[in-house]
Amino acid sequence: MKIVVRPDGGEAVELVAGMIRHWLEQNPHLVMGLATGRTMEAVYARLVQLHQLAGLDFAQCRTFNLDEYVGLPGHHHNSYRHYMHQHLFGKVNIDPQNTHVPNGMAKDLVAECNNYEEAIIRCGGIDLQLLGIGNNGHLGFNEPISGFNSRTRVQVLSQATRLQNAPLFSAPKEMPRCAITMGVKTILECRQCLLLATGEDKAAIVAQALEGPITSMIPATALQLHTDCLVVLDEAAAGGLKNKDYYHAMFETLPELELCRTIVTNETGPQLPLKTSPEVEPVNK
Ligand code: GLP
Repeated sequence: MKIVVRPDGGEAVELVAGMIRHWLEQNPHLVMGLATGRTMEAVYARLVQLHQLAGLDFAQCRTFNLDEYVGLPGHHHNSYRHYMHQHLFGKVNIDPQNTHVPNGMAKDLVAECNNYEEAIIRCGGIDLQLLGIGNNGHLGFNEPISGFNSRTRVQVLSQATRLQNAPLFSAPKEMPRCAITMGVKTILECRQCLLLATGEDKAAIVAQALEGPITSMIPATALQLHTDCLVVLDEAAAGGLKNKDYYHAMFETLPELELCRTIVTNETGPQLPLKTSPEVEPVNK
């Protein structure tokens, strides 16, 4: 695991979007695992800017979302299909046929989950999995005690998750009790993981997930087992980490973090003209 701490949320988002941009430009057929949640909204907003202003091309990429609420149709404003349309799919040149979000309305939810796993395999597996983290350490909707060998399945949402996400619903009772989620094993099989967490609300769970003992009680600790996992934090979310100096030294030193360093210092030339300001100027295509 590599951990990069950026001074603030905007710069953390800038780095994550820059990494995604790089991988997408390297491989236009990239298979991306996508996450939802408030943290990701800024990442998608930046990707939309990069599409509009720098021609970032989504035409051939494939996407698989981590999860979806059971019982919400895709057009429901709280469904993750709707979230993705609103924040990314509806604003870039992605082929809707290449976007996959579990169908929370499927009559046979077990078959839906199995088909989702098969669809990922048919696409050759996930190249890059974008991840957020729930306040209880969930990944996707893998709630505490999720097995590390788990695959796409229906999960009952925990009280902590219901408390975290209920404000997004017009009334708490409207929030579904269950969701379909990729399993921990499904997530761990991706080639690269990219976890983003920002804000002091995440500091305690981030410290447990990254530096604590591996336990299914905190599903995000499973990422410690992944061989290519990059964690991007802002200072606030990194506030509970014990070894920040060491992570900083890794960032300064490791050859495989060269791309991160380049994005961060903006020494990217005309191919990656990234700005840290939210106001993005038009760039050379
Ligand atoms: C939801 C999603 C998770 C995401 C989490 C974080 O619960 N199912 O995949 O990690 O939200 O949300 P936020 O970014 O709003 O803190």
